[in-house]
Amino acid sequence: MSILDKHKKIETHATLLMVLAFLVVTIGGLVQIVPLFYLENTIEKVEGVRPYTPLELAGAQVYKNEGCYGCHSQMIRPMRDEVTRYGHYSLAAESVYDKPFQWGSKRTGPDLARVGGRYSDEWHVDHFTDAKQVVPESLMPPYGFLKNKVIDGKFIADSLKASRIVGIPYTDEMIENAQADFLAQANPDADSSGLEERYGEAAFGRAVNVRNFDGSPKITEMDALIAYMQVLGTMVDFSTFTPDPLR
Ligand code: HEC
Repeated sequence: MSILDKHKKIETHATLLMVLAFLVVTIGGLVQIVPLFYLENTIEKVEGVRPYTPLELAGAQVYKNEGCYGCHSQMIRPMRDEVTRYGHYSLAAESVYDKPFQWGSKRTGPDLARVGGRYSDEWHVDHFTDAKQVVPESLMPPYGFLKNKVIDGKFIADSLKASRIVGIPYTDEMIENAQADFLAQANPDADSSGLEERYGEAAFGRAVNVRNFDGSPKITEMDALIAYMQVLGTMVDFSTFTPDPLR
């Protein structure tokens, strides 16, 4: 009996074919999955990546509430055209504190993974108020109403606590001081030394952006959203970063 005849036997017996196919898929699946359990960490640890400050976290919430992800991705792929346009490709570690991650798959607008520092705060206020004022061909909807949505950070400690439940390493101290840190970041006259100590240079290698983001005296969702925009993609210092070739 030739090998083809043997194979004919399998092909003409539905049950036998199913059992053998199941075996092959099981073995193939195990070969792929089991080694992952023995890797210490599948995400390369990268210096500088830190949990969002309370104000940035509130901004990330605005981003989700408004559905910005429906038009914007936050993941730069390692292809040349992407890297030329947006900067260094995204590292897995950079979205480790995004719950849920905001990689997205739709790009009606550009990728935002490294938009931090690309524009001034004033540019963002103008752009969110009426995008066509700064980019005439834009079809991005207006978000000027965010400037009227005053927020006081009363419940921000709860957001930090909830984030901690899903694995973001906010310390007790960060949670205790959440509202104070929230208020300090948007007020350049306030004492922001505690905020800086918890999230800044000494702890993570980069100073926190502290300023009046939307230019108006009250703290609004506009402040929070711009604080979030301005930190995106700026945590890792790529002038000193070298990728680990084994990963
Ligand atoms: C209907 C789709 C759509 C939605 C929803 C949308 N945008 Fe946009 N966005 C665009 C388009 C198109 C552009 C490119 C033209 C321009 O700059 O306005 C853009 C540009 C931007 C830019 C400038 C990026 C750059 O690198 O030039 C930022 C920042 C931005 N959007 C943030 C947001 C945020 C935050 C939200 C949610 C509050 C949002 N967008 C919602 C379509 C959208």
